[in-house]
Amino acid sequence: MDALTSIREETLKKLGGASNEAEIEQLRVQVLGRKGELTAILRSMGQLSPGERPAFGQKVNALREEIEGALTQKSAAIESAQKGARIKAETLDISAPGEALPAGAAHPLMSTMEKIVKTFVNMGFRVEEGPEIELDHFNFELLNIPKNHPARDAQDTLYFSENILLRTHTSPVQARTMLGQKPPIRIICPGRVYRADELDLTHSPAFIQCEGLVVDEGITMADLKGTLAVFAREVFGESVQVRFRPSFFPFTEPSAEVDVSCPACGGSGENCRVCKGTGWVEVLGSGMVNPRVLELCGIDSTKYTGFAFGIGVERAAMLKYNVPDMRLFYENDSRFLAQFSKGRL
Ligand code: PHE
Repeated sequence: MDALTSIREETLKKLGGASNEAEIEQLRVQVLGRKGELTAILRSMGQLSPGERPAFGQKVNALREEIEGALTQKSAAIESAQKGARIKAETLDISAPGEALPAGAAHPLMSTMEKIVKTFVNMGFRVEEGPEIELDHFNFELLNIPKNHPARDAQDTLYFSENILLRTHTSPVQARTMLGQKPPIRIICPGRVYRADELDLTHSPAFIQCEGLVVDEGITMADLKGTLAVFAREVFGESVQVRFRPSFFPFTEPSAEVDVSCPACGGSGENCRVCKGTGWVEVLGSGMVNPRVLELCGIDSTKYTGFAFGIGVERAAMLKYNVPDMRLFYENDSRFLAQFSKGRL
């Protein structure tokens, strides 16, 4: 076998086994490159007699062309095989069943709020909202809490300036509404409020309230009791009992703290952590609107009376869902939240 034949066979054999572009390139350099096998043979032509040179030259060139063609062909074959494999891998099976996307759900605080709002809307209340950055005038003064009144201690907050603050309750929405509307007024004010409280099991410096206000002729404490009893049964369950305890708020007179029979133990109190064995839990503050507040807000207190109440939405949600720690609502751990979304999260 002469040198050319052996280069040919050797090269075609190696090419047959090549499986990628790098191997082909390596072969190209090894055979056809500047220092390649075929190039070396061409250089050695000087040793031949002038008569032999043209025929040998032609043979070498023919072989070079053949090998170049084979290399190009092989590299095209590899490329098309790779493309085929990629297309196959990317094929979409449109008949395959779809993958369920994780669906979000209402946050337990929001669903509690919705339930509360819906309950009052069904009784004829309208929803009113107001700013979270509020004037001292609406947050305190109009609600009969003058500067230096001790009731301000329990509602310390963040002040932007002497008269601009983060509202401590949604009661300023009631003041704004009374100033802007004539009785009959029947409103519910849901919204975020702020206080200088440390975050713990039952407190947060930012929380949600839902306050309500009714002003009309002839409104009595009986209306307040009946309305709040409906609220308690709708939100905490049909069998829940309601109890009123005397209390104090500067903007209501008389005032009452409202307890419901403990939804966790059914009111028995036995070994109950939620009501600490008392059978009752406090859910809101309420009272008959102080006539002085009506007057401050431009309503004739000889003609009209009213009642107001303020519900802490976190507290209501803790009772409704038996959640022992308020902070769980804010951490947004999806393992916690998924429990309120029927596993949809
Ligand atoms: N504004 C009171 C508070 O945030 C709640 C309340 C509202 C009490 C209306 C009585 C009447 O503490």
